[in-house]
Amino acid sequence: MPMRKWRPQDLDASIETFRRSVHEIAAADYSPEELQAWAPEEADYSEWERRMDASQGWTFEINGKLGGFITTDAPGHIDLLYVHPDYQRMGVASALLELLVADAGVRGIHNLHTEASRTARPFFEQAGFRLVRTQNVTRNGVAFEQFVMERKPH
Ligand SMILES: CC(C)(COP(=O)(O)OP(=O)(O)OC[C@H]1O[C@@H](n2cnc3c(N)ncnc32)[C@H](O)[C@@H]1OP(=O)(O)O)[C@@H](O)C(=O)NCCC(=O)NCCS
Repeated sequence: MPMRKWRPQDLDASIETFRRSVHEIAAADYSPEELQAWAPEEADYSEWERRMDASQGWTFEINGKLGGFITTDAPGHIDLLYVHPDYQRMGVASALLELLVADAGVRGIHNLHTEASRTARPFFEQAGFRLVRTQNVTRNGVAFEQFVMERKPH
């Protein structure tokens, strides 16, 4: 099974996957200024540690390397979902989402929601999420459009 719970030892590889997926994959949908604000050169380690401490996460490993990770920080809320550029469109995000859905289901949580990027919106749409609204957030002084999306049981 290539998937397992996220561990603090996964932090460096997770930050690397995050940085590379933003700068190489989301680069198709955002300006250089936006990418820099989203994933700055210097990662804020204490902020990452705080965020991961307050979350539950899972990783997908391929040949012993971190191919992607997903986290939830509140009941039904998907916080982070990033797949390494080398492993795009191989079903990594789908498998991680399925795991999170299964875990939420065990806890009696069936409504899921997230704030998707432009890049991730088609992924969430095909996974059964619908757009609730668009919203603007500011990250490191730069305004971003986000898509608030939710999935309810049929
Ligand atoms: C969005 C992301 C997590 C998807 O990960 P992934 O592992 O490549 O997704 P999957 O392989 O599970 O995709 C499943 C399906 O979703 C849809 N999909 C995924 N990426 C898509 C894209 N860029 N455009 C259109 N449809 C897409 C497709 O239907 C795909 O099935 P297919 O490959 O058979 O056509 C990944 O592209 C990523 O890390 N992006 C950059 C960072 C980012 O924006 N993260 C989300 C922050 S909210």
